[in-house]
Amino acid sequence: MTKIRIAIQKSGRLNEESIEILKDCGISIDNGRDQLKASSRNFPMEVFYLRNGDIPQYLRDGVVDIAIIGENVLIEKGEDISIAEKLGFSKCKVSLAVPKAVKYDSVKDFQGKRIATSYPNTVKNYLADKGVSADIHIINGSVEIAPNIGLADAICDIVSSGSTLFKNNLKEVEVMLKSEAVLAVSPKITEERKGILEKLQFRIQSVLRARQ
Ligand code: PRP
Ligand code: MG
Repeated sequence: MTKIRIAIQKSGRLNEESIEILKDCGISIDNGRDQLKASSRNFPMEVFYLRNGDIPQYLRDGVVDIAIIGENVLIEKGEDISIAEKLGFSKCKVSLAVPKAVKYDSVKDFQGKRIATSYPNTVKNYLADKGVSADIHIINGSVEIAPNIGLADAICDIVSSGSTLFKNNLKEVEVMLKSEAVLAVSPKITEERKGILEKLQFRIQSVLRARQ
């Protein structure tokens, strides 16, 4: 029997709520987390637990058919991948921040500055649009430490509660985009699996309506 292959985040902010929404859709998944792949008992679905940043490529290659992923990750690495539904959870911003003590006037202040980030494309596009060019340093985690250790003048990262910025003596000065979890679809999805996707979307829509 044909199954739809869905990628969800292996660990991190989206993991629990992704499993939760599938559960609310009445889809039970045998076994989680420890196994990288699991099957549903009552819906034609296989779940792949993957790293966030790898998911756009899996979708592009058609190795998975759909994914629950942060819109911010698609904006950074998967602008070619379409979104079927916004899911209303894991809301966050992608922002630029500078040390609290720095006087900040406008985005022009970033001209020639060193910015540490895991979102190089998002920052470059945002600044280019404003006629600003900066020196981007790509870091994969704990980005907020960079100004404190002299690696950068500013950072760009996800802001959710704001507590990571606060703890590192940084202040948010530009909100580049707002993001939430979305259901993304592979450009290579087959017609047969599109039929399963429609059934899933129907369930998701009723869950989202009930959550309002
Ligand atoms: C994420 C993100 C920010 C932080 C924002 O990091 O990179 O650092 O969360 O959340 P807050 O505004 O609620 O503090 P995470 O802890 O997920 O890990 P990572 O940076 O090592 O990937
Ligand atoms: Mg972080």
